[in-house]
Amino acid sequence: MVANKIALVTGGGNGIGRALCRLLARNGARVVAADRVSTSAQETVNSLSNPRSHLALELDVSDKSSVETGIKCIIETFKAPPSLVANVAGITRDFPILQMDERAFTDVIDVNLKGTFLVTQAAVKALVEHGGKDGAIVNVSSISSKGNYGQANYSASKAGVEAFTRTAAIELAKLGVRVNCVMPGFTRTAMVETVPEKVKQQILMITPLKRFGQPEEVAEVIAFLLSDKSSFMTGASVKVTGGM
Ligand code: NAI
Repeated sequence: MVANKIALVTGGGNGIGRALCRLLARNGARVVAADRVSTSAQETVNSLSNPRSHLALELDVSDKSSVETGIKCIIETFKAPPSLVANVAGITRDFPILQMDERAFTDVIDVNLKGTFLVTQAAVKALVEHGGKDGAIVNVSSISSKGNYGQANYSASKAGVEAFTRTAAIELAKLGVRVNCVMPGFTRTAMVETVPEKVKQQILMITPLKRFGQPEEVAEVIAFLLSDKSSFMTGASVKVTGGM
């Protein structure tokens, strides 16, 4: 269902993004692993069974010109823009509001929320210019969008991603582009390594399945939403949280 399609995965150099690149490649997609850290993107592509069929891209989702250059590079390489886009790149800069400086707030909004907008806009413009249709976009929000201590910046960015998803779904339906969102719970990646042990235990207590998710488990749901198997879904936010 994703075979031979070009799939752009931001944050593809690590964690959930890397797991998604591997899953999409196994299902026959031509994968673009895009990451701010080029070596991480390259490591992802090198781990795929046929690296030459895929592309590692250094791309900063918060920088409009970097995003536009990245889309041009994909078109040069594959002679077409991506019809599948997963906006996975994300960062945290946790502080209680009274200790949070402006930079910590804007950095998180710029990557998580503005980055989702910039990549969506550039990819859909390229798709339209090349006469393509039937695209699918999946954005990654978080269970923290409901509000979480120390994460005013992150929670606001992820609630914004969910609202952006619903609006994009309404606007882009006429172009044949579906837009959905996945809300992961705590997933074993570098992002949660810094969470103190005490907090991890508290999280497990309120997680019905009593464990953290694996990046592959989140990737499966993103891949489903990118594929034609979810052809009547758009504007949805799907929780992948172990029941939290
Ligand atoms: P991760 O930290 O393992 O990987 C994130 C990747 O994004 C890294 O390779 C990083 O270099 C890249 N990245 C960061 N800023 C970027 C930028 N400006 N442009 C391009 N790439 C950039 O994180 P993880 O855990 O895989 O998270 C993936 C997504 O899932 C994020 O959006 C995160 O907010 C979300 N999420 C993760 C959860 C978790 O428990 N791990 C829970 C809920 C949501």
